[in-house]
Amino acid sequence: MSQPYDRVFNFSAGPCTLPVEVLEEAKEDLLNYKSTGMSVMEMSHRSKPFEKILAETEADLRTLLSIPENYKVLFLQGGASLQFSMIPLNFLGAGQTADYIVTGAWGEKALEAANLVGTANVAYDAKAQNYNVAPDFSSIPLTTGAAYVHFTSNETIQGVEFPTDPTVDSPLICDMSSDILSRAVDVSKYALIYAGAQKNMGPAGATVVIIRDDFLALGPAKQHPILDYKLHAKNSSMYNTPPCWTIYMCGLVYKHLLKTGGVAGSNERNTAKANTIYDAIDGSNGFYKGHAQLESRSIMNVTFTLPSEELTSAFVKQAEAIQLDGLKGHRSVGGIRASIYNAFPIEGCQALASFMKEFAAKNG
Ligand SMILES: Cc1ncc(COP(=O)(O)O)c(C=O)c1O
Repeated sequence: MSQPYDRVFNFSAGPCTLPVEVLEEAKEDLLNYKSTGMSVMEMSHRSKPFEKILAETEADLRTLLSIPENYKVLFLQGGASLQFSMIPLNFLGAGQTADYIVTGAWGEKALEAANLVGTANVAYDAKAQNYNVAPDFSSIPLTTGAAYVHFTSNETIQGVEFPTDPTVDSPLICDMSSDILSRAVDVSKYALIYAGAQKNMGPAGATVVIIRDDFLALGPAKQHPILDYKLHAKNSSMYNTPPCWTIYMCGLVYKHLLKTGGVAGSNERNTAKANTIYDAIDGSNGFYKGHAQLESRSIMNVTFTLPSEELTSAFVKQAEAIQLDGLKGHRSVGGIRASIYNAFPIEGCQALASFMKEFAAKNG
């Protein structure tokens, strides 16, 4: 099946596929953005056109996620990985404890960074089960009076996702890098949400931070400027040069999402897409084995294994030959990972499901 511009079905875990309409618009704007005589890449971040791009991008994200007024929205650099350090450096003070809920590789990395700063309590860790489950939050013993509780809503490598927003007593922090905008979120339950742009929002280069005012105020009086949320908030993401091009691209993606049903629309499409592949796994008489437990299955990263390494390599190779690209799983899980973020088309999931059936019939 031929895709526009001979594009492949790109199952990459991130950076990943973007809406074709967005890429076309960016191409249109590239040499001369709205008669400014230059591209957004070449434009001063202090210029009026860029100020407008930033303001509109923030406003559209606020609309998409129904972000309450008492939250700041920041566009920072340094990736989601910098947030692993910035969070404890700002909010894990001496004598305090932060709870970490670890359901996969990214949660582990966040925990490592917190351990360098202060007391991080591992409230839950599914390592012994090779991270195949997102537990019921209410079953996790949390520290009374914790500085915060940190978790990862979707573990990109393992394909394990919490289906709903948890309720906890302490300030709740979530790494939503790989499922932001894939479903509605009750932002008011969170003290801080962060997400790298390069899955559901745009190209790599920006990290969105959504932070509640009262939590922001708890930051330390003295902090390295570039690591200081309060300073970034005071300067509306313009303390230093922001990732202008990525912000512009996120803005186009947000407008595209607003036109296509917002997060309710993306959730409906994502659920149908994921079910197409999970049905192929479940209908394979055990040839394919899903990595995540049923109730923890991700609608963004579908992970499964085949009976052997040889069959896995053959699967990846043959899939590539029919334009199904980027399916090799992460080495810690093995097998296959189909990353099917917001912009990934259902036709790609259908093509993968039929290939899976043919491959199992030939090799099962
Ligand atoms: C859930 C999650 N958190 C954090 C990261 C790290 O993001 P970055 O590479 O932007 O630092 C990733 C990257 O894939 C991720 O999937």
